[in-house]
Amino acid sequence: SGNGTGTAVTGAGTSYDQRTASGENAQTLTTRQGHPIYDNQNTRTVGNRGPATLENYQFIEKISHFDRERVPERVVHARGAGAHGVFEAYGKVGNEPIEKYTRAKLFSQKGKQTPVFVRFSSVIHGGHSPETLRDPRGFAVKFYTEDGNWDLVGNNLKVFFIRDAMKFPDMVHSLKPDPITNLQDGGRIFDFMSNTPESLHMLTFLFSPWGIPANYRQMQGSGVNTYKWVNQEGVGVLVKYHWEPQQGVKNLTQPEAEAIQAKNFNHATQDLYEAIESGNYPQWELRVQIMSDDEHPELDFDPLDDTKLWPEDQFPHVPVGMMTLNRNPENYFAEVEQVAFGTGVLVDGLDFSDDKMLQGRTFSYSDTQRYRVGANYLQLPINAPKKHVATNQRDGQMTYHVDTAPNQNTHVNYEPSSLNGLTESPRAGIEHEPEYRAKLVRQKIDRRGDIDFKQAGERWRLHNDEEKQDLINNLTDALSAATEEIQTRMVDLFSKCDAEYGRRLRESLATAAKNPSAATRRYMGRRLGQSGQPGNHTV
Ligand code: HEM
Repeated sequence: SGNGTGTAVTGAGTSYDQRTASGENAQTLTTRQGHPIYDNQNTRTVGNRGPATLENYQFIEKISHFDRERVPERVVHARGAGAHGVFEAYGKVGNEPIEKYTRAKLFSQKGKQTPVFVRFSSVIHGGHSPETLRDPRGFAVKFYTEDGNWDLVGNNLKVFFIRDAMKFPDMVHSLKPDPITNLQDGGRIFDFMSNTPESLHMLTFLFSPWGIPANYRQMQGSGVNTYKWVNQEGVGVLVKYHWEPQQGVKNLTQPEAEAIQAKNFNHATQDLYEAIESGNYPQWELRVQIMSDDEHPELDFDPLDDTKLWPEDQFPHVPVGMMTLNRNPENYFAEVEQVAFGTGVLVDGLDFSDDKMLQGRTFSYSDTQRYRVGANYLQLPINAPKKHVATNQRDGQMTYHVDTAPNQNTHVNYEPSSLNGLTESPRAGIEHEPEYRAKLVRQKIDRRGDIDFKQAGERWRLHNDEEKQDLINNLTDALSAATEEIQTRMVDLFSKCDAEYGRRLRESLATAAKNPSAATRRYMGRRLGQSGQPGNHTV
């Protein structure tokens, strides 16, 4: 079926000519052992009323495979859609030669094409949750480059809730359903967020229409975290990545999203699939922001703080290539469900920055994938590089093949060796070797103490009137589920971002308190256990 994935998924490699059972042809249903199936309707029983027999091997095989059809969902980003495509490089950064900044080959020549697989997702709820929910959207791209894979695991929004990976499980728990009621709870969300002021910028996006992109084609993408580019001399610069949709950006207000959800909870997957099926291929331009690799004391934010934007007027978004999605998956599970992206997956010429979120993420992704998909997840066609792979790693569950070199002495699965085993590669360029001199500490990045308010206030002022009103309505709705203490803390924090922002939220909450029956009850919380006191449950 043309691509490596299809062969492995459908088993199209089988030679039907070799089948011997009489009357069998290419369409014949078989067991996984290759036995033709004569009756797929009736279990084998003693008489037509049973009982069934244990030697009913065909039935047991069918049901026991069905019993294992699911793997664990992604702990976050469970709901998603994916597509194949191609990335075409412009061969320069704006008007400058790309080699000045990075030696990564996929960017190096104008017109160079690299195959990609993209998975879009929402974050908090399960695998078939509505695609109209307020949530960041994942935007993960796997580039199958000539130097091995590069994963750019991003979101639609350019900033994040927190800036230290230590806080991620707590943040996610606050956004996930309550562990007792199994309902998402505005009281729990804002309990956490009101004690985490670096989230204000993200919240000002998320509760506005920017928190519900109209579909996957009309949303931006961003790497969010700060990475590095490294050139041939080993010199690094800080870099941020952004995807700009050529279809334009479209977001939904809460009422618009509800109208769609009433009729269709799969609209974004359907929109992407149908666009590609009909040849209407979506495109995104990849743009980068570049900054010299130092601490930048002149800025009022830290370039390693992912809750902040790098202002575009100082750090322009410079185009480096175009991505086109032009082919739907052949099998959702084999490709979209089993694909595994990770921030550690970089190619030569790309590097990590010291961004603490990025460092934490880099451990998390491959760790979860060894659990979610299995120790040999990189042997699956969707995850395997499209270049040669030769390792001395062996065995483990579901070993599908051994990655050896054509002329390797395959007795040698260790290195170094003088018996024709695998050998180290020559270096592609000078290694980037940043120098460190500091105390080992536990401290947050915080330049001036008030930095969490400035960009959130700017974002409030940049929203148009409709976005501002939708933001106030949505915050009111979610915060109505919180205790008064939490409400007050959020109003105080938003007031520090912008006085009008805080005032409008306070007034809106007061109006809502007078008329509680008007609340949408989309978020649970205080209304469940009126006092807001924790339940006295034990497990
Ligand atoms: C998925 C962890 C922050 C974007 C995941 C998964 C984990 C995870 C465990 C599931 C992966 C899988 O099962 O294959 C973390 C941690 C973070 C963090 C520990 C913070 C320290 C972020 C940020 C972004 C992001 C800041 C956006 C830039 C994504 C995306 C996916 C994902 C797009 C879905 C990938 C896919 O489609 O398979 N994350 N994450 N995450 N994360 Fe994060």
